[in-house]
Amino acid sequence: MSEPSVDPALFRQAIARWATGVAIVTTREGDADFGLTVNSLTSIALEPPLLLVSLSTVADTTAVLARVGAFGVSLLAPEQRAVSERFARATPPGPKFEGLAVHRGLTGAALLDGALATFDCRVEAVHAHSDHRLFVGRVVAAQLGRDAAPLLFYRSRYVPGDLLQGLDESAPGRR
Ligand SMILES: Cc1cc2nc3c(=O)[nH]c(=O)nc-3n(C[C@H](O)[C@H](O)[C@H](O)COP(=O)(O)O)c2cc1C
Repeated sequence: MSEPSVDPALFRQAIARWATGVAIVTTREGDADFGLTVNSLTSIALEPPLLLVSLSTVADTTAVLARVGAFGVSLLAPEQRAVSERFARATPPGPKFEGLAVHRGLTGAALLDGALATFDCRVEAVHAHSDHRLFVGRVVAAQLGRDAAPLLFYRSRYVPGDLLQGLDESAPGRR
């Protein structure tokens, strides 16, 4: 007996109650930078350090990232909301990076100045599910950036994570 299907609108509304941070995933092919806004970022393991991102096959960045086999991740602060909006628009890659202060990671990917933390990853595995590709990246470099509040995404809205400002990383209660 098959399970009843879940209404996609309900699923969307329900999962929107899962609060996330916001990150920019970037990759570089030749002299060209590509990137998009994501909130599907998950840390899979600490040793070795692995990150996962789920990218739509519709996004231009996805095919490039699959070819290049490497990507950068920049975690955004509330002041970078406009960057998130810019990278969430399906525009040609060039204008996305115009006027943006970036530095280069080990893999050559653009990492955003002013990010809370940045990571450089080499793709270790790709899993195809539905219209998304899950990229498992081995973290080859990690950097702490601004010690500031995060930009959050909750119920399909941006929320400044100001309440989280100043929480001590060494405080008890971490997993
Ligand atoms: C907060 C937020 C989170 C997003 N998360 C993802 C994600 O995890 N994976 C994805 O494929 N697209 C995600 N998107 C949508 C992409 O950023 C968007 O489709 C983008 O235009 C793709 O750019 P590209 O076609 O130049 O690669 C998200 C958008 C927003 C606003």
